[in-house]
Amino acid sequence: MIEAAPHAIHALELGRMANFIYVIHDRATDRAAVVDPAWDVPGILALTERHGLRITDILITHSHFDHINGVEALVNRTDAQLHLLRAEAAFWDRHTDRPTLHEGGDRIQLGQTEIEILHTPGHTPGSACYRVGDQVLTGDTLFVFGCGRCDLRGGDPEQMHQSLRRLSERLPGGTVIRPGHNYGITPTSTMAAQLAGNPFLHFDDCPGFVEYRMHLHDREEPYRPEPRANRHSHRVIPNRRA
Ligand SMILES: [Fe+2]
Repeated sequence: MIEAAPHAIHALELGRMANFIYVIHDRATDRAAVVDPAWDVPGILALTERHGLRITDILITHSHFDHINGVEALVNRTDAQLHLLRAEAAFWDRHTDRPTLHEGGDRIQLGQTEIEILHTPGHTPGSACYRVGDQVLTGDTLFVFGCGRCDLRGGDPEQMHQSLRRLSERLPGGTVIRPGHNYGITPTSTMAAQLAGNPFLHFDDCPGFVEYRMHLHDREEPYRPEPRANRHSHRVIPNRRA
């Protein structure tokens, strides 16, 4: 944590699926935004109380149960404003009342801290990453040396390929990655380390990525770095069994 930064990001690992719940803390106002509240709302409230924070905003990376099962309880306890992408609200049939619906590129002002919303479809249609200074909260889009699955309802591996490419092109190498699950050998990483060692960022061609994501990827957690192979020339040997 850099003391000079206008914000701090606190992380909690909660639940049976190793979810990371993040609290973005604006130092100037002691306002807090909770990202993907789930599993243990009293634990989230205890963290914010310990730091003397007021929860004013709730940010959703996507609407899967393991990321949102604390939203309703937290809204009721805090009256915080809920934010998500319009595309995810259309996909999610049971969100709470009065969310603020965003488009990719929108910014949320948390006191003196600006949070940029990136639309990164692929895991779900309205998956979002939240960029705060030199850090990015990537939900189930980008994991440390992994990426979110695309075989669930609303998933689309071609969109995931595009989303990961855009993140790769857009985010400087020093950007700190904070994923939605603790699936890698470290809880956080940098964009440079991911470009070097995350196999999902090594495909220039979309069909190769889709084949790897949907059929070939069988690594066990924790995900480790893999050297960049010539993924763009990767060829799938057809299964010759009937
Ligand atoms: Fe998910």
